[in-house]
Order: sequence, then structure tokens, then C-alpha cells
Amino acid sequence: MSHGGIDSSSKEKVMALEVYKVGKTFRSDTGTSVKALRDVNLLVRQGELVTLVGATGCGKTTLLNLIAGLDTPDEGYLRLGQDLRFGGNIAHVFQHYTLFPWRTAISNVSFGLQMRGVRRTERLCRAAALLAKVGLKGFENAYPHELSGGMRQRAAIAQALAIEPKLLLMDEPFGAVDDSTRTELQQMLTDLWQENQTTIIFVTHNIDEAIVLGSKVIVFSERPGKIACEFKIELPRPRDRMNNEFTKLFIQIRTMLSGQLD
Ligand SMILES: Nc1ncnc2c1ncn2[C@@H]1O[C@H](COP(=O)(O)OP(=O)(O)O)[C@@H](O)[C@H]1O
Ligand SMILES: [Mg+2]
Repeated sequence: MSHGGIDSSSKEKVMALEVYKVGKTFRSDTGTSVKALRDVNLLVRQGELVTLVGATGCGKTTLLNLIAGLDTPDEGYLRLGQDLRFGGNIAHVFQHYTLFPWRTAISNVSFGLQMRGVRRTERLCRAAALLAKVGLKGFENAYPHELSGGMRQRAAIAQALAIEPKLLLMDEPFGAVDDSTRTELQQMLTDLWQENQTTIIFVTHNIDEAIVLGSKVIVFSERPGKIACEFKIELPRPRDRMNNEFTKLFIQIRTMLSGQLD
């Protein structure tokens, strides 16, 4: 894969993640095996919002888990950028919210800071500011079961951002909410990203979402997952779905994935 013609020292400076010829096979005790990833190459630069789109079962979650260090590849390697190698934080947001049900919203958001020894007044102050930023002002003391699905995902994003991650991994985080909530969450995420310039890798099987959010869209082929194509998206934000270029991209990606998506 081409790395865009930047020399190796500047490449090192701006690189958040390099995935090189990564393969992953799952083997069961009964001897069956599933090849989930094959020859995956990817370079993510600092501050990029990369979306990864592909059919269910093509290996997207497997790749995110490898990036998070939750699993290891059996071919190739993954390399994190300098600032992530030395104590930088990686945060993860999943499709189904991961808030502690027995903690209030503010206590969920401040939990990561508590674990890092931040004193109570400061962590509550930072958590309240984050909740306000994701549109949950006034819900600080609500428990997860008192919040809607979209609000829980807002809280989960605030929780992830609380530790000021250098890399944010998002695995179909808006997959379980209705369409209008999804559009609101996409806008909120875009605003947060433009403000913080956190590197984000966002997985989805929704083509529209991939184009709305991504500064780069990576299209995954069917299992074993392999990168079929990369598109750099330079459309202005907020993205206009009626824009010709948007529609062209949508059709191009849908054609590549046709037969793979349900
Ligand atoms: N821990 C595991 N053990 C066995 N097979 C797995 C495991 N995790 C994922 N797989 C298989 O690997 C393939 C890719 O899965 P996954 O990464 O979850 O896909 P996606 O997130 O794109 O839907 C699927 O066929 C899935 O069944
Ligand atoms: Mg998945």
C-alpha cells in the first residue's frame, strides 16, 4: 500500500497506527477454523477520522480488537504511533452501551478519572463539562436505565473522552438507535472530532454513515476481511447527502459491497 509519498521521519511523526499484512484465523477446539482477516494493510494518521465499512462478519470487530490489544494477529503486525506507545490512551465505544448500571451518568463519566487518581472535585467538574458537551446537561444524576438509547451512547462517548484518549475506537456505536437519533449523534461526533482532533477509527456497516463521518473511508471485502478500497473524502462538513459527489461515492461503495450487505 502506498503511504502517500511522505518520508519516513515525518511519517513516524504523524502516524497514529500502522497495520501491516495482518491476518487472523480463529480456531476452535473441534478443529474448525475461520479466517477472519487476510493481508490487511492500513495507515492511520493522527487526527484522522477513519471509517471502516463492510458487511456483517467481514472482520471489522476483529480488526478493532487487534488495534485495542485485546487479541493478537497471527500474521503481520500492528504498530501504534509514538504518542500511543508511551502511555497514550486508547478508548473503546461499542454498539451496546457499556455504562455501569449502578452508577449515575456523571459517576460513569468520571470513573476513568477516578481510576487515574484524579481528585473528586476535579473529576466531577470535568465529567459535568463533558456531559454538557455531549448534550446531557441536566442528566448528570440519571441512571443508565433512565436514559434513552441515544442518550446512553452520548454518555458512553463522554465516558470514553474523559480519559483524553489519543485514539478512539468505535464499533458500530450508533447501530442500535433510530434514524433521527443516529443523525444527531453523527453530528455530535463530527463536532467533537473537529474540536479535539482525536484520531478516531469508526466501524459501521452503514455506507451513508461511513461517508457522512469519514475523512477517509476504508471498504472491507467479504470474509476473510481484506481492504478492497480506500476513499479520501474531502466534502465540506456538515456533509450534504444530496451532494452529487456524495451520491456518486455512495453508489460506488454500494456496488463494491453489493451482495455483501443485508
Ligand atoms: N472469538 C472468535 N472465535 C471464533 N470465530 C470468531 C471469533 N470472533 C469472530 N469470529 C468470526 O470471525 C468473523 C469476523 O467476525 P467479526 O470481526 O465479528 O465481524 P464484523 O465485526 O465485521 O461483523 C466471523 O465469521 C466471526 O464469526
Ligand atoms: Mg462487529
